[in-house]
Amino acid sequence: MSRRPVIAGNWKMNLSADDAIALAAAVRDRCGRFRDVDVVIAPQGMMLWPIARRLEGSPVGLAAQNCHWADKGAYTGEFSPVQLKETGCTHVIIGHSERRQYFGETDEGVGKKARALHDHGLIPILCVGESLQQRESGQTIAVVSSQVAAGVAELSDDELAETIIAYEPVWAIGTGLTASPEQAQDVHLEIRNLLSRLANEATAQRVRIQYGGSVKPSNVRELMSQADIDGALVGGASLTIDSFAQLVAHREDFDK
Ligand code: PGA
Repeated sequence: MSRRPVIAGNWKMNLSADDAIALAAAVRDRCGRFRDVDVVIAPQGMMLWPIARRLEGSPVGLAAQNCHWADKGAYTGEFSPVQLKETGCTHVIIGHSERRQYFGETDEGVGKKARALHDHGLIPILCVGESLQQRESGQTIAVVSSQVAAGVAELSDDELAETIIAYEPVWAIGTGLTASPEQAQDVHLEIRNLLSRLANEATAQRVRIQYGGSVKPSNVRELMSQADIDGALVGGASLTIDSFAQLVAHREDFDK
């Protein structure tokens, strides 16, 4: 089954307003023309509105880095899926390990967010991944499986098929350490097998599973050549147009 790869840039809390707008315009101009890959950028929240205006008419998707699950209400500092949709977002990253680690994001909350996003026609990019200590104590599959199961618990099969899962081993994020293609493929396959048990084989085959954690132009091809790796969620290497454009273009001469 061939799945359309998706390359997403998570800018985190980086870039000035001017730099973010310039980078978004460069992504639109240089990365919007590839027909065989989906491209998504996730700027810092305040920049979503002006960047959405610049992406109008472009195939480049726009993601928020987080959201609340409620439509509106007394949740100081939060963005609702309704507001994100109105702003022009197409995707929302949920359950990123930095949110789990520093902001108390729970599996249950991630599941509610996934549900709310589908209610409003937004695609979740659901992040999962184990810590170094969990990997070293042999808990990788158990940890990742429970994160995935909780994240998709409220979704129908069709909603699950539309959801993007990002496997990001915590020890590989921003560290320069990358899971080897085989290590990543092993976990991706386990995730797909789990999805097959939770839903069915046909649905599981439709789900795109991205790898994230120190993805860069020098390692993207090898990672993406693995059967169950369908894209990348990229932090550091998404912050300059040259490296991000290389990640997006890596398939030009490569057919899975
Ligand atoms: P990194 O970040 O590419 O800088 O490791 C990935 C992520 O956190 O999504």
